[in-house]
Amino acid sequence: MKTTNQLLKPVTAKIGENGNIEIGGCDLVELAQKYDTPLYVMDEATIRSICADYKKAFSGYQKVNMMFASKALCTMATSALLAQEGFGFDVVSSGEIYTVYKAGVDMNKVLFNGNNKSFEELTLAIDLGVGRISVDNFFELSLLNEIAKSKNKMVDILLRITPGIECHTHEYIQTGHLDSKFGFDLTQIDEAVELILNEYKNLKLHGLHAHIGSQIFETSIYGDEIEILVKEIARLDEKFSLKLDEVNVGGGLGVKYNDEDVPPSTYEIADKIISRLNSCIEKYGIEPPALFIEPGRSIISTAGVTLYTIGSSKQVPKGKTYFAVDGGMADNARPSMYQAKYSCEIVNKPSQELAKTVTIAGRFCESGDILIKDVLLPELEEGDIVCVYNTGAYNYSMASNYNRVQKSAMVLVNNSQSDIIVNRETLDDLISHDVIPGRLKRD
Ligand code: LLP
Repeated sequence: MKTTNQLLKPVTAKIGENGNIEIGGCDLVELAQKYDTPLYVMDEATIRSICADYKKAFSGYQKVNMMFASKALCTMATSALLAQEGFGFDVVSSGEIYTVYKAGVDMNKVLFNGNNKSFEELTLAIDLGVGRISVDNFFELSLLNEIAKSKNKMVDILLRITPGIECHTHEYIQTGHLDSKFGFDLTQIDEAVELILNEYKNLKLHGLHAHIGSQIFETSIYGDEIEILVKEIARLDEKFSLKLDEVNVGGGLGVKYNDEDVPPSTYEIADKIISRLNSCIEKYGIEPPALFIEPGRSIISTAGVTLYTIGSSKQVPKGKTYFAVDGGMADNARPSMYQAKYSCEIVNKPSQELAKTVTIAGRFCESGDILIKDVLLPELEEGDIVCVYNTGAYNYSMASNYNRVQKSAMVLVNNSQSDIIVNRETLDDLISHDVIPGRLKRD
């Protein structure tokens, strides 16, 4: 059975009564007129649909905790929605901690990750009652213990380990291979455990955590990861009589950005994880641990689209035809950063004959700011609205103000209703942090 992450478009995408594309029952031309472009549009039904896919797929294991990886998209509204769906949160900064806290999330269901958490961030995490901290390195172990001790608190932790697995994805989003900046090498775990047991009396170790990469299509490597994690848990029990009862396998399930992408379903990944976990529990003779997963992209990507308006165009003599839109690498860095390939349609011409291969260029002052290369579209003209699919993950969260352009707005659509969930930045927002020293001021 297909699951939502295997779709190119949101589950509610269709051609509406007036011939335009609609999502969540909202005509996208009307949304572009009402909220202006570029506009991130998030479909609530698609988010709830993938959450249901995950919950169903993992229902075969008795103790499962789903933690949404906030780095994929962190807004108060989407955090509140995912909390309603029963998800906890993986966070990696004060900003993400503060956002989920302000959204009313149960902080006990929050896990703080990251390879260089600061004193201030760890302090905030403890003060706001973050449930688990995944400690990444020796420096952090000592720093965290010191902070916990000064507050006379016990802090619940996991150890982030590097399992030494190479997955086939873009090298910038591989994380589990041995020469990685994240986590304890397998050979460093014993020393970390000895420190926790003998010296760092304010830290309580609950389990092990790993994350092997992102946009993964290959389910078998999750089996390899589980084997390493469970084997380590059993080994630590034997060596230190330490009972660890939590195993966190990270995130990584891929999505479908274009016709060539064929990601596995949540069922395929859950089957691989659960069956290997069960067999490892037996093989290594441990008590069944609670399983934690941290999907980001697969939860939120398919639900999101970005709307742009076409402005200028350029026909290079004997070369490409470029159509420029009003956004680009500042609202979606992925094509220029990872050569990511997206798909699009023209919102006001979904049924028109595909007439010409064109390149959709961004508006930023950089030749590499190309959103989609060589895509077959209907005849285009200024004012047409382009809908780029699958932009829900790592678009807004990696957005910048390059060229001093305001960040785009985001709306949540559902049942023909649209609600703004992130306001468009204003020109005054852009200068709100600037300070002119007195000596430079003109009288
Ligand atoms: N857990 C940990 C510890 C992670 O580092 C990540 C992602 C996740 C979970 C969620 O992975 P996901 O399910 O989203 O694949 N900016 C890149 C992706 C970087 C992913 C970093 N870590 C991109 O746009 O492709």
